[in-house]
Amino acid sequence: MCGIVAAVSARNITPVLVEGLRRLEYRGYDSCGVAVHKDGTLARARTVSRVDELAREIEATDLAATTGIAHTRWATHGAPAVANAHPHFSPNAAMPRIALVHNGIIENHDTLRGELRSLGYTFTSQTDTEVIAHLIDHHYDGDLLAAVRAAVARLEGAYAIAVFCRDEPDRVVGARAGSPLVVGVGGGEHFLASDAMALVGVTDRIIYLEEGDVVDVARDRLRITDHTGRALAPEERPVRIVQAHSGAVELGPYRHYMQKEIFEQPRALADTLEGVGAITPALFGAAASSVFSAIDRVLILACGTSYYSGLTARYWLEAIAGIPTAVEIASEYRYRESVPDPRTLVVTISQSGETADTLAALRHAQSLGMKQTLTICNVATSAMVRECALAYITRAGVEIGVASTKAFTTQLAALFLLTLTLAKLRGRLEPEAEARQLEALRHLPVALGRVLAQEPQIIAWAEEFARKENALFLGRGLHYPIALEGALKLKEISYIHAEAYPAGELKHGPLALVTGAMPVVVVAPNDALIEKLKSNMQEVRARGGELYVFADDDSRVTPSEGVHVIRLPEHYGALSPILHVVPLQLLAYHTATQRGTDVDKPRNLAKSVTVE
Ligand code: M6R
Repeated sequence: MCGIVAAVSARNITPVLVEGLRRLEYRGYDSCGVAVHKDGTLARARTVSRVDELAREIEATDLAATTGIAHTRWATHGAPAVANAHPHFSPNAAMPRIALVHNGIIENHDTLRGELRSLGYTFTSQTDTEVIAHLIDHHYDGDLLAAVRAAVARLEGAYAIAVFCRDEPDRVVGARAGSPLVVGVGGGEHFLASDAMALVGVTDRIIYLEEGDVVDVARDRLRITDHTGRALAPEERPVRIVQAHSGAVELGPYRHYMQKEIFEQPRALADTLEGVGAITPALFGAAASSVFSAIDRVLILACGTSYYSGLTARYWLEAIAGIPTAVEIASEYRYRESVPDPRTLVVTISQSGETADTLAALRHAQSLGMKQTLTICNVATSAMVRECALAYITRAGVEIGVASTKAFTTQLAALFLLTLTLAKLRGRLEPEAEARQLEALRHLPVALGRVLAQEPQIIAWAEEFARKENALFLGRGLHYPIALEGALKLKEISYIHAEAYPAGELKHGPLALVTGAMPVVVVAPNDALIEKLKSNMQEVRARGGELYVFADDDSRVTPSEGVHVIRLPEHYGALSPILHVVPLQLLAYHTATQRGTDVDKPRNLAKSVTVE
C-alpha cells in the first residue's frame, strides 16, 4: 500500500529517494515525505500533495544528503495530513534522533503508546508508526541495530521499516514482517525499498528479505539477521539480478497507465501463454503432477478483481474439468468456520502476490491441513509464490494503474490452462479438443486487438455515462463475473455507483431501480443463454431502461430505440469472458476521464493492499 525507499551512499541520494517515490506513488498517495541526515541533524520535507510537489519543496529547501529515507502513504491510522505523513521523528524535541518510515499496521499500538507516554514521549500524529519511532529511540544506546531489534520484538502486526539515526550518519537499518522489503546493492552504496521497482535505474542487484529479517546497511557494509537474530551468510539471501522494467513506468503515447495497460493486453496474453506447447501439469511447477493427483476439489481465494477471475474460473473448472470448485473472498474465508478437506487444491489469485487478506487466507487454509497449494500471480518474487507449492506466473508486466486490467485477463488465461490441465488428468480433454483450445488461446491476442478497435464507439457511450450517477451491469453464466468486474471498474475510477446482477435475478428486486436515468450495461455473448438474456433485456426496456449492449457479432441483437449495441467479434466460446471484459474496462476508463477523476490513482485506494 505505502512505499518505502532508503539509501546510504557517498553521493547525494535525495534525487534517488524522490525518483523512487515517483515509481512507488501508485501504491499509496495520501501523503509523501523524505528525511535525510544533514549537518549532524535530521531534516525532512512532507506534504499531502503528490511527489512532484514534494520534489519542488525539496529543491527549495536543499535537502542534499548521503543518507535518507522516504515514504509515500496510504492512510490507515490518522487522516491524510502532514502531521501523519512519514518520515516520523523521535523524540519530538528540538534535536530528534530517530527517523523512521513504515508500511503495515501495528496492532498493539495503543498499548505501546500508553507505555511510551508514561516514559515521557509525546505524540504529534495519530499514526501507529510514530510508536515504532519512539520505541526505537527508547531502546537506543549507541547501536541502531540493537535498538531496532529490541523495538520490533515488541511489535504485533505487520511492518516493513527503514530507520536512521542522527548519531550514526552512514547507517540505515530495515526490518520486515508481513510487509515486503528489499535491499538494493550498488557499488559503495546500499538501498532499501518496499518494491524493487523503486530502484530501477539505480541498481538491478536485489536481495529479497524474508519474514523477520533485519538488515543493517552502510555504504560498504551489508548485514542481514533472521528472526532469531542469527547472522545470515550471503548465500542464504542471495543477490538476484532483477530485469529492469523501466518501460513499465513510461507512458508512451497514452494519457494514463490504465489506458496503456488496457492496450497492452494482447502482448500481456501472448507473453503469459508463451512456451505453452501442450497441456501438462508441468506448466504449474515440478511438483504439479503429485499435487494434482492428491486433490479432488478446488478452493479459490482472492480479493477484488482477482476474486472475479476466480468466479469466472469456477464455471470453467466445473463445466470443463468436472471438478467441484468453491470461490471465496479471502478476507471472509479467513474468519469463517469452514469445513476443510485435505484433498483440496487451494488456489490463490493475486496480481501483486502481497495482498494481506489473500496471504492470510492461504495461511489459514494451510493451518487447516490443506497443503496442496497453487498461486496464479503476476510477481514471481512475491510472498504468495514463495508460500505456495505451485505457481503459474502471469506475465502481464508491471501494473501501475490502481484499477486492475491486464492482470485480470492474464489471470483468466492461466486459470483456463489450469482448467484444461485438470480436465486432461481427469480424462475429460480429448486430443482434438486440446488442440482446438490451445489454438483459441494462441489466437486471443489477435481477437483482443479487434475488441480494442471498438474504442471510438465506447468513447461515445462514455460521454453519456459520465453524466450519470448510477449504472447497472447484467451478465449471465460465465459472463456474470464479467459484469461484476465491469461494475467494479466503473465505480473504482469514475465514482459512479455501479452494481452487477445475474440478469435472471433482476425481477427479484433490482428491477425496481430501473428508470430512464439508469444505464443498463449488458454483456451479451452469443452463448447458450443469449435468448434468456434477451428476455431479461425486454424486462428492462419495458420499464423504460436504456440498454447498452456489448454483443457478439453473431448474436443477432439489433439496435433500436433505447437499445444501443456495440458489436464485438464472433462468439469466442469458453474464452469469451477474456474478450468481453475489455470493452467494460474501456467504458470505465473513458467515463472516468470525461469526469476528470484521477484515473490511475482513484481516491481512497491504493495498489497492492498489504494491510488487513
Ligand atoms: O494484487 P491482488 O490481485 O491480490 O489485488 C486484489 C485487489 O485488491 C485488486 O484486484 C483490486 O480490487 C483492484 N483495485 C481492482 O481494480
